[in-house]
Amino acid sequence: MKTFKEGNYMSKFRIAVIPGDGIGPEVSNASREVLDAVAVKYGHSFIYEELLAGGIAIDVTGTPLPKSTVAACRSSDAVLLGAVGGPKWDTLPGDQRPERALLGLRSELGLFANIRPAVLHPALASACPLHPDTAAKGIDICFVRELTGGMYFGERGRRQSAGGEEAYDTEAYNVEEVKRIAHTAFKIAMGRKKHVTSVDKANVLESSRLWREVVLDVAKEYPEVELDHMYVDNASMQLIKRPGDFDVVVTSNMFGDILSDEAAMITGSIGMLPSASLGAEGTPGMYEPIHGSAPDIAGKHIANPLATILSCAMMLRMSLGLEREAEDIETAVADVLSQGYRTADIVYGERSDDNVMVIGTFEMSGKVKKSLIGIK
Ligand code: IPM
Ligand code: MG
Repeated sequence: MKTFKEGNYMSKFRIAVIPGDGIGPEVSNASREVLDAVAVKYGHSFIYEELLAGGIAIDVTGTPLPKSTVAACRSSDAVLLGAVGGPKWDTLPGDQRPERALLGLRSELGLFANIRPAVLHPALASACPLHPDTAAKGIDICFVRELTGGMYFGERGRRQSAGGEEAYDTEAYNVEEVKRIAHTAFKIAMGRKKHVTSVDKANVLESSRLWREVVLDVAKEYPEVELDHMYVDNASMQLIKRPGDFDVVVTSNMFGDILSDEAAMITGSIGMLPSASLGAEGTPGMYEPIHGSAPDIAGKHIANPLATILSCAMMLRMSLGLEREAEDIETAVADVLSQGYRTADIVYGERSDDNVMVIGTFEMSGKVKKSLIGIK
């Protein structure tokens, strides 16, 4: 929303913040500091509304995703989420676990496209567990994972069988679901290296065969984009062998869940990777770090806030239309890393290196903030 104030247009944005559990509150608070610096620098106004979801919502309200949270998210410009889950709630039945909040938000907000960029930052090249020659070629992959279909939301249940009780989950995709995620992938590819790899298991699964047909069909509308298809088992191998050859990877909910964790690993730290979950145009997107709630380090202020800070950059770019501000955050993060600042998770056998300084969550967000406003 734009309002006229003192001769200037000031943009006001309503951001729903779901701190969640574990390190979620630390990393989301740290990121808000950076957003506030952006607001001051560019004259925007970010209005935050803190909402309950996940384990904390179970404790406070008895349910992982209160209706009021969904309603507030719907009326926001974008949603920023820390993380949900923790051992405290691990023994609850499936439909009452904190993770239900995530799945519920994805389906209630219609967030069918999950964008997970996996980038190896040059300053963190030593974090890549692959051969140094492979790392030297660079890694910059954008995963486009379908997020509201497939086995995650298919028919499931238990029944009797000759072998005793049987449980089943169903993988089902319809044409519309595949079409819209394929369009998302091709559009993203148009702004990158114009190469889409569609990952499926079409040699075995009928749902994958339909997936492939639809992707081939959608591809006709993007003649400039090179498309290839890969079976998921092969893709998991090629990601390790030649990650530099991938540009955009589009795949189903389940395959995307697995492959994006693999991609996180090859870029060194899951603590660095942001994500965006998007629905139909004009509806609020949800932005979250891809790491979980890391209960073992919660409250210690040592968690890496960069994945959440980079998620904020994605939010500014994809939901709020603030490209320059998004780039500014990304440049500031790269600058802080090149100055040698690291949280503990991104220090790799280089502790003896005088140029590397290990700092905590809020020191890290403070450094990003300073770089952003031009203070060394
Ligand atoms: C993810 C997570 C979630 C998923 C879990 C927490 C439900 O692993 O976002 O990748 O499987 O989608
Ligand atoms: Mg996952």
